[in-house]
Amino acid sequence: MTAIAIANDTLLRALRREPCAHVPVWLMRQAGRYLPEYNVVRARAGSFMALATSPALATEVTLQPLARFALDAAILFSDILTIPDAMGLGLTFAEGEGPRFARPLRDEAAVAALAVPDPAKLRYVFDAVAEIKRALHGSVPLIGFAGSPFTLAAYMIEGGGSDDGFARVRRMAVERPDLLQRIVDVNAEAVAVYLCAQVAAGADVVMLFDTWGGLLAAPAWRRFSLATMHSVLARLPAGVPAIVFTKGGGAWLDDSASIGAACVGLDWTVDLARARAGVGTRVALQGNLDPLVLTADAATVDREARALVRAAGSAPGFVFNLGHGIIPQTPPDNVAVLVDAVHAESRTKI
Ligand code: CP3
Repeated sequence: MTAIAIANDTLLRALRREPCAHVPVWLMRQAGRYLPEYNVVRARAGSFMALATSPALATEVTLQPLARFALDAAILFSDILTIPDAMGLGLTFAEGEGPRFARPLRDEAAVAALAVPDPAKLRYVFDAVAEIKRALHGSVPLIGFAGSPFTLAAYMIEGGGSDDGFARVRRMAVERPDLLQRIVDVNAEAVAVYLCAQVAAGADVVMLFDTWGGLLAAPAWRRFSLATMHSVLARLPAGVPAIVFTKGGGAWLDDSASIGAACVGLDWTVDLARARAGVGTRVALQGNLDPLVLTADAATVDREARALVRAAGSAPGFVFNLGHGIIPQTPPDNVAVLVDAVHAESRTKI
């Protein structure tokens, strides 16, 4: 495939810690239920998985937020749980509920039988990346993604979301570390293969979502999550920038900054200015507005977005984002206010 130049390359420049015309902004879950046009396509598809497994529909919803807002990146519309689904765990999303696996990892035999899935089972994801890349016509970069090996393991062991902080998984980390190690090792291999295929299909940047890493004790996080993310990043093609995001990992930024990622994502509990002072200019930082701010009035959104741009300071290497995914109650007009505020406030800085 011949690479086309990207017209708005502010994200790529920020990830390389180069000066940018403005601070780039994109939002986790920028394509999702807060957009009425997303809900229409979702209803037409019949289920979340029907939507995610159709490259044409995944392309359509990936582009929806870019048609409305001056966002500086597209993110593949998919889910982190595609890998365990391809491993045979049987993923469904019931309306209004979280994910559910029909066959979670509940005994040693299931753990022993776990294997890296045949990439052909995930072909729909790579086809979506290629189709989105074509549809973008080089306008903005495309972010591919995967779950961290540990976060995938958490869902695979629990069988879905958890209302007790994934207690079963945290118990396994101390009682049967050998079993958890095997699961995250298989996942790391699967995630590496998956991200390399997304890059081959056209993803310009990759992001690892370590959504539940922050639930672990520090030594367990370093062993089961940090080390396995490190091995995934080591297997990416040279020059592909990666973003790592451990929700609840604010105390471990030094570790996150030391595994070869171009950028560390921050949740909203982290003080951005202190994070920059702590990690210096080793990596770019991404974040970290509280997603709830987007449910406030427009003047508040504008004020808070500008304050965060100022807190980021003038060193190159900042990507504006939320501290976690956009929530369904967000009025779409507030996203326009946010994006315009980030661009306006940062243009005056350079
Ligand atoms: O950011 C984007 O716009 C890209 C799309 C994307 C989705 N999921 C679409 C989605 C991305 C990057 C994800 C990642 C993902 N999926 C994570 C990591 C990020 C995070 O939020 O921490 C996690 C933990 C999941 C697992 C998952 N998928 C859950 C827990 C749920 C249900 C909760 C919910 O928000 O409904 C999903 C479903 C899901 N994935 C939806 C979307 C838009 C909503 C499903 C629907 O339309 O019914």
